[in-house]
Amino acid sequence: ADILDFIDDPAVAGDKAHRYFKQGALVVENGRVAKLGYEKDIMAELSSQDTLAQYHVRRYDNQIIMPGMIDTHIHLPQIEMIGAYGEQLLTWLTEYAFPTEEKFSDEEYASGISNIFLDELLKNGTTTALVFCTVHPQSVNAFFTAAQQRHLRMIAGKVMMDTNCPDELSDTPSSSYQDSKLLIEKWHNTDRLHYAVTPRFAPTSSPEQLVQCQKLLEEYPDVYLHTHLAENHNECEWVKSLYPEATDYLGVYENSGLVRKRSVFAHGIHLSERELDCLAHHQGAISHCPTSNLFLGSGLFNLKACEQHKVNVGMGTDVGAGTSFSLLQTASEAYKIQQLRDEKFSAFKGLYLATLGGARALDLEGTIGNFNQGCEADFIVIDNNATPFLNFRLSHTKTLHEKLFTLMMLGDDRCIKETFILGQSVYQRDLPCDSNQVE
Ligand code: GUN
Ligand code: FE
Repeated sequence: ADILDFIDDPAVAGDKAHRYFKQGALVVENGRVAKLGYEKDIMAELSSQDTLAQYHVRRYDNQIIMPGMIDTHIHLPQIEMIGAYGEQLLTWLTEYAFPTEEKFSDEEYASGISNIFLDELLKNGTTTALVFCTVHPQSVNAFFTAAQQRHLRMIAGKVMMDTNCPDELSDTPSSSYQDSKLLIEKWHNTDRLHYAVTPRFAPTSSPEQLVQCQKLLEEYPDVYLHTHLAENHNECEWVKSLYPEATDYLGVYENSGLVRKRSVFAHGIHLSERELDCLAHHQGAISHCPTSNLFLGSGLFNLKACEQHKVNVGMGTDVGAGTSFSLLQTASEAYKIQQLRDEKFSAFKGLYLATLGGARALDLEGTIGNFNQGCEADFIVIDNNATPFLNFRLSHTKTLHEKLFTLMMLGDDRCIKETFILGQSVYQRDLPCDSNQVE
């Protein structure tokens, strides 16, 4: 196969950011990357050491192997309401999102949805995600149980919200602290799972609840913090009126000590220079969610400002305000947003953000996101032959960039031929659906 990965941000390292091995080989040992290079070099090396027979060799002609993609913001409960019609954020939340989330008080229901959700991620080539569950601790237990069975590297948390939401979805500062603490003790850093303290967003957390979030981060410094930030104009105005003493939206989180490494803020569309500086200074990351931002009419993300301020950015689908599980389609919409801003967004940028950029945003560089030696072997096989038309269109490309850009524009789940977790094949497009179920 041809092999592509990134070792740096194209905005910083230009053409040196990516590695591309035409007729390359990837050697996996014990679920980790052992070697990466040109096929002929690797075959010669293994033959000369007389070790080739120890490996199971698979060939993928006319295909590209890439690291598994990383979705830095997605909502488990919202997969059944993708495409809910006609509203912007705040009405969309009350009309569509909240009623759906109420169903997750039933752990069995949450468990069924978790398996559909994970099937869909793997089918789309996403191998790691940062996930909003619901306010119910059982939604997190259901999700982590399903992820653990599949040996996935996943990050998730119980939503904390104690105000401006339906009673059925409301916790309290002390119950949200207790519930989160128990979940952290049970799940954080077990196998490949990590916990994220997950206040929904400033409008649905009282100041007392934000204090409890801070307490959790102090007790468990390596857990994640996952929330929403500056997505929609009405939301930003609302935060101003709820928290008049804060300098700005991010200031609400900053005042509670919630802006630090391993803090991931979804959207970040309407940010001031001060907020960008604050994110950079405290090493908080932004999850850019283009399909959601367009679907809800939230705004056009300023990627250039983030790059200039050296703020880490990853890609998020934000399903179900986002309209696709596919990070290829998500990157394609990111391109169109930058077009509307009159900024360039290359295929290298899009694929970087979907892989190493995501790993950096999640502070997991060196573990996932590229094929450096020792990284976990979560990877995907992209099929240049996914449809007759794609093959036709790709046959008219000349450069590597043109080929990758075409894949980014036209690609979706049909291009994901196979998904590997820790070196094991867990999804094959051409098998009947049932055959991909885990035992
Ligand atoms: N802000 C607070 N909650 C949500 C949510 O569920 N989806 C999106 N897109 N934004 C939010
Ligand atoms: Fe979201």
